[in-house]
Amino acid sequence: MKKIALIIFIAALIISCNNNKSTLPKETTSVDKKWWKEAVIYQLYPRSFKDTDGDGVGDLKGIIEKLDYIKNLGVDVVWLNPIYSSPNDDNGYDISDYRNIMQEFGTLADFDTMLKGMHERGIKLVMDLVVNHSSDEHEWFKQSKSSRDNPYRNYYHWWPAEKGKPNYRYSLFDVKGEAWKYDSITNAYYLHYFSQKQPDLNWENPKVRNEVYDIMRFWADKGVDGFRLDAFQFVAKDTTFPKLPDGFEKDFMQYYAVQDGLHDYLKEMNEQVLSKYDVMSVAEGAGRNFKDAHDLVDENRKELNMAYAFDGVGIAQHDGYSLVHLKDVFSRWDSAFAKKGWLSVFLANHDQARMVSRFGNDSPQFREASSKLLNTFILSMRGTPYCYYGDELGMTNIEFNSIDEIPDNATRNGYYKAVNEGADPVEQMKIVNFSARDNGRTPMQWDTSINAGFTTNTPWLKVNPNHNEINVTAQENVSNSCLNYFRKMVQLRKDNPVLVYGDYQQLFPKHEQIYAYKRTLNDEKVLVLLNFSEKEIHLQLPKDISLKNELINNLEPLTVTDNKVLLKPYQAVIYSLK
Ligand code: NOJ
Repeated sequence: MKKIALIIFIAALIISCNNNKSTLPKETTSVDKKWWKEAVIYQLYPRSFKDTDGDGVGDLKGIIEKLDYIKNLGVDVVWLNPIYSSPNDDNGYDISDYRNIMQEFGTLADFDTMLKGMHERGIKLVMDLVVNHSSDEHEWFKQSKSSRDNPYRNYYHWWPAEKGKPNYRYSLFDVKGEAWKYDSITNAYYLHYFSQKQPDLNWENPKVRNEVYDIMRFWADKGVDGFRLDAFQFVAKDTTFPKLPDGFEKDFMQYYAVQDGLHDYLKEMNEQVLSKYDVMSVAEGAGRNFKDAHDLVDENRKELNMAYAFDGVGIAQHDGYSLVHLKDVFSRWDSAFAKKGWLSVFLANHDQARMVSRFGNDSPQFREASSKLLNTFILSMRGTPYCYYGDELGMTNIEFNSIDEIPDNATRNGYYKAVNEGADPVEQMKIVNFSARDNGRTPMQWDTSINAGFTTNTPWLKVNPNHNEINVTAQENVSNSCLNYFRKMVQLRKDNPVLVYGDYQQLFPKHEQIYAYKRTLNDEKVLVLLNFSEKEIHLQLPKDISLKNELINNLEPLTVTDNKVLLKPYQAVIYSLK
């Protein structure tokens, strides 16, 4: 009997070692290999992916139906935006029950089936964890606001009105930008960095922290493979709420992000939960500077695995952007993490308008090429790439005719705040059309049927009329479609560890149209050439660059003469080097 137990134990050990094993060849032992570094993450906005019950809202059964599609992309991890019970003031980022599934999305049983289906296909699941705030409809808040001596009172931040008005705090989502809301029941103000329906939790209270760790254990015990910590950099606050300098809101990150206490909370979370499971952890936001970012992800500190900074994604504005600036930002972040720490790489998520409309060129002539180029970029940088649903097809921004067509409260409040402060509504609408995050949340475009095959009912957000050309079915069997290019590029990354772990070295940093870089890992070297413009560009490569094989190309083969290459508009190409 003992012998059998020993054999089972050894077998289990081998399996678990294999599970943790990196797919990299042996010779690359100098790098610190981890599955979450090698993973390609696919972010999926559940509300917009696939509706199966005809209520116009995506659901877990819809994700289950599309698991083979996700598998066939070649991605390793799905990050799901919040799917917990929520009154949906902020599409699930306002949670009323952390251990249950939003009614529109399905049930816990659906969740279990979905997770099983993912794991059977070798796909891991990262859940959004939203614990800077809860919903005001969470039981904790209902209790907390009911009386000053309620046991849940200190789960949130309250300011008794008899002490006068609390010092100004800025709210990112409030129509007046005001983060304190008066509540007459107990004659006190509560704090909400986001909307009035998202009261901030009080992380100084150990009970709150333990509740959060229990919630994390609940999901980790179910088998989820990671957490994305929403707005976590804001959780530590000076709860004396001193006066902040006038105008601080213009640079509020300095006063809100990574304040005293934050690292202690993360260490505790790591010790209590993260270290006990093979889960990845990623913070939304990377603090105020490189030091903050390093401290969040430095392995020796035992806090998180990864963070993602917004510097890159924020560059594209409605009046354009400078490629030199973009290159500089990505290169600086890379070099700050060249020796230690790990980054996330992304150009889009659910808080941004569509990648191709912001960083590429969504005109019919250049949409496909530029969207392939952007995916080449994300998937050839050092760091874990995050690819946002629909970007594999080159989905674009949609035209909103008026602010009333936009369901997102944050965008609406931002628009009204600007207009109330004197902005021209027409100009403001132009900005909204370029940057509103609902641009990036329109339903997934599956086919040419009604509502792009997303729902049989009225969708919660209008479907982009261009779904007749841009959709999965149309691209599935076309070998050079955006979709198939994306798959090839994902595979290329998997086959070439140099794209994951290799050193990054930028060439031509001042070139205004070309982004070029070398990646090097031991003897493997590749060159990435990206023409971010509508122009044909002749580029003389340095003498020490010797092209070997073309690994991928989004357009026709390159013309190379005497180490001079001709890049077509939005051409993206990766070469191995001799
Ligand atoms: C960041 C999330 O990404 C965003 O969608 C949300 O509205 C805020 N945090 C508030 O939770």
